[in-house]
Amino acid sequence: MKFSELGLNDALLKAIKRSGFEEATPIQAETIPLALEGKDVIGQAQTGTGKTAAFGLPILQNLDKKEKAIQAVIIEPTRELAIQTQEELFRLGRDEKARVQVVYGGADIGRQIKSLKHHVPAILVGTPGRLLDHLKRKTIDLENVNTVVLDEADEMLDMGFIQDIESILSYAKNRNQVLLFSATMPKPILHIGEKFMHNPEIVKIKAKELTADLIEQYFVRAKESEKFDIMCRLIDVQGPDLALVFGRTKRRVDELTRGLQARGYNAAGIHGDLSQARRMSVLKRFRAGKLDILVATDVAARGLDISGVTHVYNYDIPQDPDSYVHRIGRTGRAGKNGISVTFVTPNEIGYMRTIEQLTKKKMTPLRPPTDDQALRGQLKQAESQIEDLLKADLSKYEDEANELLENYSALDLVAAFLKNLSKDSTDVKVKITPEKPLPYKGNGRHHGRGGRGHGRRRGNYNNHRRGNDNHRHGGNHGRRNRGEKRGSNHDFVIKKKD
Ligand SMILES: Nc1ncnc2c1ncn2[C@@H]1O[C@H](COP(=O)(O)OP(=O)(O)OP(=O)(O)O)[C@@H](O)[C@H]1O
Ligand SMILES: [Mg+2]
Repeated sequence: MKFSELGLNDALLKAIKRSGFEEATPIQAETIPLALEGKDVIGQAQTGTGKTAAFGLPILQNLDKKEKAIQAVIIEPTRELAIQTQEELFRLGRDEKARVQVVYGGADIGRQIKSLKHHVPAILVGTPGRLLDHLKRKTIDLENVNTVVLDEADEMLDMGFIQDIESILSYAKNRNQVLLFSATMPKPILHIGEKFMHNPEIVKIKAKELTADLIEQYFVRAKESEKFDIMCRLIDVQGPDLALVFGRTKRRVDELTRGLQARGYNAAGIHGDLSQARRMSVLKRFRAGKLDILVATDVAARGLDISGVTHVYNYDIPQDPDSYVHRIGRTGRAGKNGISVTFVTPNEIGYMRTIEQLTKKKMTPLRPPTDDQALRGQLKQAESQIEDLLKADLSKYEDEANELLENYSALDLVAAFLKNLSKDSTDVKVKITPEKPLPYKGNGRHHGRGGRGHGRRRGNYNNHRRGNDNHRHGGNHGRRNRGEKRGSNHDFVIKKKD
């Protein structure tokens, strides 16, 4: 559907055009008119289908330009996602000079306070912990807030965040509109959300699968001790443009990052223990394509929109099936293709089946590359390296080159050079501390959690998350072009399915 049919004003239509959006995605087409009318909306659609603009555009349109007060609050689960959302809304609202600010943990609160005082935003994006901090210090006032958005709503309403959300909502007591958006929306969580809403319209974009359509999903069955070598070989053979590698714990992420670096990959990690400055600089490099592989905990699982991510490797299978949907959803966005590979140890096969039941999509088994395939992959990388090398000024080497050519055949020399360039990265030994495989209790139930529809208790998952990757209260409490680019890009048409 055309954006012009949705009731949006000219300034926003201009911004949409500037962003290169040609048609509204189904979630946008269905939720924008409802949100413009002021209705409460629960919107569920696959990852990468433009949910941010679906809530952002109506908010921008409904702003009272003259009012000098916060009129909308958007709550995001991670700092990086809060920043990204602020940037997207700022871009879309630029023509109308909409004031959009972001607050998140790990950043100097004094500076945030000054900037909020100096320039009261109309739209405030933030993470729960930092928003509450400001509310308690009375450095923000939500009395005039009309709209509250919970992006990644199922995460925000889950055990880890729900109390914070309730508190924030109690400050925004004059609100007229609550919008919940996510790619996953388990029923029990949806019911919690409805408690804060008035006759919400539930818009669920029907799709055959919960995961995004354009992701080819594979799994590799491997022992814990084999996973790292197999992943390196897969990276060599698949030649991702940008790749995301998910690990279960912070230690995992650190070890995987060091291991990949030791083997010559241009990799860096992010997790909740790193300083915010570090997290931001790593992400910035990755977004700019200066980093080929980002290794992350689930801190990067949701919402991040980084173009060029062609591959997602689940080095550890996620403990929570919803997390799988979000993790792999970092690729296959906005009409582009993507590939995901999930490593599954023999004890974790049941976990994989639970994920498949949720997503309604089977993962295709992938054999680890053979020696020969790995070599082909490495040779391909070597060839592209040679192309780059040939671009440099090589005049200094010509005399020696001529000498070599007199003594050896050109064919032998090139073959020797290729042999040297295409070293098997698995020659460098890397030891990754084994993690216990996830215990599987059968019947799609694990960790004592009910299966879907049994009420979701995320005991272990949340404990783990809090213990190992607490990003809630933030602070308060080269091998690019190593092969062919994957993934032909489709035009961005997200078809509605029945
Ligand atoms: N109508 C459109 N046409 C083309 N691109 C779009 C359109 N709407 C949004 N996009 C782009 O698609 C990408 C994905 O959008 P967005 O991040 O909002 O997805 P999402 O549905 O929130 O995904 P996730 O569930 O992972 O958070 C962004 O780069 C965004 O700018
Ligand atoms: Mg999103």
